[in-house]
Amino acid sequence: METPFAFGKIVADQHFTNRVTEVERLTNNFLMGANTIIISPRRWGKSSLVHHVAGLVQKNHPHIRFIFIDLFNVRTEAQFYQLLAKETLKAFSTKVDEILEQSRRFLGRFIPKITFSPGPDTDFSLSFDWEEIKKEPGEILFLAERLASARNMKAVICLDEFQNIAFFEDPLGFQKKLRANWQLLQHVSFCLFGSKRHMMMEVFNTPSMPFYKFGDVVFLEKISRDDWVTYLEKGFRLSGKSIDRKSCELIAQLADNHPYYVQQLAQLAWLRTSGMCAESIIHEAFESLVMQLSMLFHAATDGLSTTQVNFLKALIDGVEHFSARRNLEKYQLGTSANIQRIKQALVEKEIIDITQGSVQILDPLYAWWLKHFYWK
Ligand SMILES: Nc1ncnc2c1ncn2[C@@H]1O[C@H](COP(=O)(O)OP(=O)(O)O)[C@@H](O)[C@H]1O
Ligand SMILES: [Mg+2]
Repeated sequence: METPFAFGKIVADQHFTNRVTEVERLTNNFLMGANTIIISPRRWGKSSLVHHVAGLVQKNHPHIRFIFIDLFNVRTEAQFYQLLAKETLKAFSTKVDEILEQSRRFLGRFIPKITFSPGPDTDFSLSFDWEEIKKEPGEILFLAERLASARNMKAVICLDEFQNIAFFEDPLGFQKKLRANWQLLQHVSFCLFGSKRHMMMEVFNTPSMPFYKFGDVVFLEKISRDDWVTYLEKGFRLSGKSIDRKSCELIAQLADNHPYYVQQLAQLAWLRTSGMCAESIIHEAFESLVMQLSMLFHAATDGLSTTQVNFLKALIDGVEHFSARRNLEKYQLGTSANIQRIKQALVEKEIIDITQGSVQILDPLYAWWLKHFYWK
């Protein structure tokens, strides 16, 4: 039997809840051809949101084509151009002949080598003369524009895990190239999204950076407790089980409204429930989830320096003024100049996030584990 909850993948349809205002905002941007930048910590729902809205828009506006590029495993500029060319060709055609014809027509002088894999789906790989492309990536950066305008269509290029461009050899040079080419496009708009708030802000919110004011910046929030209650209650009910409001609230609260964890915890509780989900089941499910993650949490903690761990301890104890002398001493944090470095390192590792001066541990279950298990 299919379970009513889903996590660890892009969610759609009955597994997608709320985000009403974001859906509207993104839909409008897509229709108007305005660029969007979406920022949130990982697993809060960026990819799901963009795919959901793209699906809705596609249904009613077949002249808009979506090109999805996920940079999660892309480490070089060459890989990026290859993926962009391939996904762009695929977005406009599913037939082998057409793809060949289009690449001949629109990729001009450096026609790539195309290898099709046998089978019913049009999967293929492209290889380019990388040296050529590096000199003149414009052809590939313009490919979507040429295809779209030739067919009187529009395209939206969606770039997921955008923060990974930091791995490229020359991220700034790359951004300059993209921006210089992309600002000329008439038929193509962009949706760029990623985690690492700090890095994304630097790219999109710093006046001296190429992508400054590139588009509408959306900070995606978690999903509210009330929305989770509605969603959870329905999930249980439609699958022939039940849960009361208080228990739904407990799930949302234990998972700190974190979209991935709410779904995961709900799933574990649902699996343990035969009729009515009791609060004791939820607590059990929660503990088993934390235990399941314990190895990962141990490994993450082992990867931290002693002062970083001490900082987390202070944070969990509710300390706000880390640089105050008594806190530096009590938690052995070194000098006050050290605090900035510790924070930066933990932000970089995506363990904490700092918004308006306040510091949070990003993973609510890790915070729980540190408090109730590691320092017990
Ligand atoms: N709108 C939503 N409704 C319900 N669950 C969601 C929603 N968005 C995200 N989730 C949950 O969070 C998980 C991570 O979402 P994802 O879109 O992959 O996040 P991100 O791209 O920000 O890392 C999903 O697998 C799903 O369990
Ligand atoms: Mg994602």
